[in-house]
Amino acid sequence: MSDIYLNDPVLTHADAQRTHLTALQHRYELAMQQHALDAIVLHSGKPKRHFADDQDATFKSHAHFLHWVPMAGLSDSWLVIRPGERPLLYLYAPDDFWHLSPTLPTPEAAPWSEAFEIVHLRKPTLPTRPNGRIALLGEIALLQPDVVEALNAEANPAALLRQLDEGRVCKSEFEVACLEEASLRAARGHLAARRRFMDGGAELDIQLAYLGASRQRESDVPYGNIVGLNEHAAVLHYQHYALQTPVTRHSLLVDAGASVHGYASDITRSWAGDDALPIYRALVEGVDALQKRLIAALAPGVDYVALHLEMHRELAELLRTLGIVSLSAEAQVEQGITAAFCPHGLGHLLGLQVHDVAGRIPDFISGDMRHPPAGHPMLRLTRKLQEGMAITIEPGCYIIPMLLEPLRNDARGKAIDWSLIEALAPHGGVRIEDNLVITADGAHNLTRVPETGL
Ligand code: GLY
Ligand code: MN
Ligand code: MN
Repeated sequence: MSDIYLNDPVLTHADAQRTHLTALQHRYELAMQQHALDAIVLHSGKPKRHFADDQDATFKSHAHFLHWVPMAGLSDSWLVIRPGERPLLYLYAPDDFWHLSPTLPTPEAAPWSEAFEIVHLRKPTLPTRPNGRIALLGEIALLQPDVVEALNAEANPAALLRQLDEGRVCKSEFEVACLEEASLRAARGHLAARRRFMDGGAELDIQLAYLGASRQRESDVPYGNIVGLNEHAAVLHYQHYALQTPVTRHSLLVDAGASVHGYASDITRSWAGDDALPIYRALVEGVDALQKRLIAALAPGVDYVALHLEMHRELAELLRTLGIVSLSAEAQVEQGITAAFCPHGLGHLLGLQVHDVAGRIPDFISGDMRHPPAGHPMLRLTRKLQEGMAITIEPGCYIIPMLLEPLRNDARGKAIDWSLIEALAPHGGVRIEDNLVITADGAHNLTRVPETGL
């Protein structure tokens, strides 16, 4: 949800937010010391204008800027961080009779704003250049070259960005509150989407029901909602909304979230329709059960790569139990059979970006990546879990013809019951995705709590 107009009950956790900002100031001061900087200047970003047009593309404020300023959607603004000084926020709110300008935050409505010195910009203007050596973070390509030149700053230094990305991996209490609220809002959407599906809605009807119940316009969702009926449930990032209800209704997959102060939820549910075969219902139940077992294993120190491989072993057991593949679990994983049924990773870090930063860089000082294991190139998180990390757990199982067909013609094809594959194909697939925060001795599931009803 865009919160620049403060026209909605805003989530205020004033104390937690103050603590969050104090911790950020310390982290930035340490980074400035280590990188010999006198200031870090962050740009909020600005919307891209379509060619020869007067309309802008959907806009998201820069995530490092939002880490400080909880005004998702704010553009053309600047933040200057210096050691020992209050953050200086140049907040762009033009006098504009065509559009409604952002509301300037007041201490009553937005207690966080007391932590900042705020300068109201009525026109896109450069901040006063802080003295000394400065780094500029933001989408530099969008700024006029003379702006960067006038600031005489080093733009997006890689080592500094890595360090600040690392500071986003473990969430503060305030950030967890935002993620919790985002999960709750998305859950309302998911329940409404399911009802609309059961009533016979087309994909577009289901999408509109989701948006209405989660109180979001389409440009405010953290990523394009995936609403797939039948075979469309097998298209991992299906991006259309069909206008017609299909004649048979086998299944629905909805992968959709919500955004609170820029923090995303990312939840998937799969539902069997009136025309679903028993084997599809069994597949949904099986993936749901194995997802819960994987969640039960979460704790600090757990290697996410090992958990991803465990997901494949569990999936293989399920495929064997359902009679879809006859080989042992180990053989299925080793021969790449489960990878054809589930080509994506077990999940990822979650935060101001849906696929949040630093998922593959456990060693942020050297910047060394930990690559996913062979045969699993899409795994986005290859770290050991730490307390405070926000992650998703999203096992899936799909009938994707372009991945399964090649198996038919080699030795592996003999171990697969192709009549069951054909029976399942009109259902597309299953994905079950929850959002979690790692705690001292396990994980807090933000999605499966009584308040969400999921
Ligand atoms: N919604 C994209 C994902 O689950 O990663
Ligand atoms: Mn996800
Ligand atoms: Mn998702």
